[in-house]
Amino acid sequence: MYVKIIAAVLIVAFIGIQFVPVERSNPPVTGEIDAPPRVKEMLRRSCYDCHSNETVWPWYSYIAPASWLLADDVAEGRVELNFSEWNGYDEKRKLKKFKETREEVKEGEMPQWYYVIMHPEAKLSDADKQALFEWTATGGK
Ligand code: HEC
Repeated sequence: MYVKIIAAVLIVAFIGIQFVPVERSNPPVTGEIDAPPRVKEMLRRSCYDCHSNETVWPWYSYIAPASWLLADDVAEGRVELNFSEWNGYDEKRKLKKFKETREEVKEGEMPQWYYVIMHPEAKLSDADKQALFEWTATGGK
């Protein structure tokens, strides 16, 4: 009896939260980063969903509560580092972001483990990381 009531409440709640609006916009690309093709491919594959204005919104981004977590990650990710608006950064900010990028990838913090579960292709190989380290060490020249 109670189990049925609880199940009914959960189902109604689940349906209810689907109506909470979620921001899933892709603003225009205003100054995309320039990088060697190898690095660019890697950034697109592994980072662009959260750090660009070209997010590919997956099916689970339409289902709450996963959609909320994802939309939050994208909003926060774009504020921290946006490869679609990179050319609008001043030199100091670019250098800082290169340094942070190197650190995040070295420590295995980015891409996040839970993202990699849903997007196995985003996992960086040692060769990917090497290419990224070489490129960021030059300051992106
Ligand atoms: C699932 C979304 C997601 C993906 C994929 C992702 N990031 Fe992030 N990234 C975030 C969020 C959210 C933050 C801000 C919060 C934090 O630092 O954890 C962030 C922060 C950062 C920062 C700033 C960290 C600091 O020191 O303040 C850098 C640099 C970064 N990411 C680089 C990358 C790189 C490089 C990739 C790809 C290899 C990547 N991220 C993939 C979501 C993501």
